[in-house]
Amino acid sequence: MRAVADTAREHAHAPYSGFHVGAALETADGTVFGGCNVENASYGLTICAERSAVVAAVTAGHRQFTRLVLVSDADEPIAPCGACRQVLAEFAPDLIVAGCAGESTTTWTMRELLPASFNSDVLP
Ligand code: THU
Repeated sequence: MRAVADTAREHAHAPYSGFHVGAALETADGTVFGGCNVENASYGLTICAERSAVVAAVTAGHRQFTRLVLVSDADEPIAPCGACRQVLAEFAPDLIVAGCAGESTTTWTMRELLPASFNSDVLP
């Protein structure tokens, strides 16, 4: 997982922020998908690493996820941004998220990261 995230981070397109992020998303059958942040000159169109990984996995036919590993240029582990938390929760309310930086890892559950989330239960 960590190696996939590290490789994805190397592929980040981040010429505007200079902040490279890599994600590795594990599916229920053990397949791991990488994702990186993909920035755009129209800044708001930037796609985060986590959402890149989700899109890659769903495109390949996977919708059940167990773990996410996240790496970045920061000295400390980072947690997914709010938008990515919502997208991850769509598929994996029980996801385990591990932020890694060097030798240090911080682990969260999706429910810790996004309590009282909006979800499809209330939709008609
Ligand atoms: N970024 C991610 O890829 N994931 C996050 O959870 C936080 C932020 C990216 C978006 C942007 O390209 C750069 O990091 C700086 O915000």
